[in-house]
Amino acid sequence: MAEELSDSNVSSGLKTTLIGRRSFYYHALASTMDAARIKVKQGVSEGTVIIAGEQTGGRGRLRRAWVSPPGNIALSIILYPDLTGLPYLIMIASLAVAYSIESVTDLKTQIKWPNDILIDGKKVGGILIENEVKGNRVVYSIVGIGINVDLKTNDYPGIATSATSLKTGRGKNDLRLKIIRSLLTEFDRLYLKLPDGRSIYEAWRDSLVTLGKRVRAVSNTQTIDGFAESVDETGALNLRLDDGSITRVIAGDVTLREK
Ligand code: BTN
Repeated sequence: MAEELSDSNVSSGLKTTLIGRRSFYYHALASTMDAARIKVKQGVSEGTVIIAGEQTGGRGRLRRAWVSPPGNIALSIILYPDLTGLPYLIMIASLAVAYSIESVTDLKTQIKWPNDILIDGKKVGGILIENEVKGNRVVYSIVGIGINVDLKTNDYPGIATSATSLKTGRGKNDLRLKIIRSLLTEFDRLYLKLPDGRSIYEAWRDSLVTLGKRVRAVSNTQTIDGFAESVDETGALNLRLDDGSITRVIAGDVTLREK
């Protein structure tokens, strides 16, 4: 019998210090990002997690929609890190998502700069981080994570060829619950290493499929072709251009394609 998602099924017995000690499960939400922001205003503690059984207005980076019908994972983690911790959040989230999928299924994941988790080159998970920063103080950071667990990608023409889903044929609620608990545990382990993010950066850097490839970085204002040479500890990507110079690309508003 598959276990349903619920506040207590997610949080009870979870061996974490911070992340997921408290969780709020909703059958349906517009977006867990907005629900998390409301919880921040109510003063919830760090590590609180908002989970939606489905989202009706899920969003991704670059103002894209994120489809999350029932059967998938949509959650947001509320954090109050120091400013110096912010660059590591995407690394922590990416590593935790990849780890949780691999530890619960027999699937192999790849991490694509800046925020995609892939299986066989197709997107299975994405991460959206929204921060409020005042001066040099982080008021909050909300780390949104979406994982396609049971998504019929063919039903969505916009992502049919680029997205994939775990679809392992196991009880889907059970699979979701296991992945969420593994994800929160790994996120907690990595987050507690801060402010020393060196080992997080190194693990993330070494997991990226992006490095060593020719890529095209596209933003609103420009398109840059180059060789993905390295990433630095702030999360930026160094592209070697054809003239031999290096351009530093910041994740912000950029999409990256292999060439
Ligand atoms: C992306 O790849 O562009 C990021 C996708 C992030 C989706 C997650 S699902 C949970 C949280 N709520 C949202 O509305 N978006 C994020």
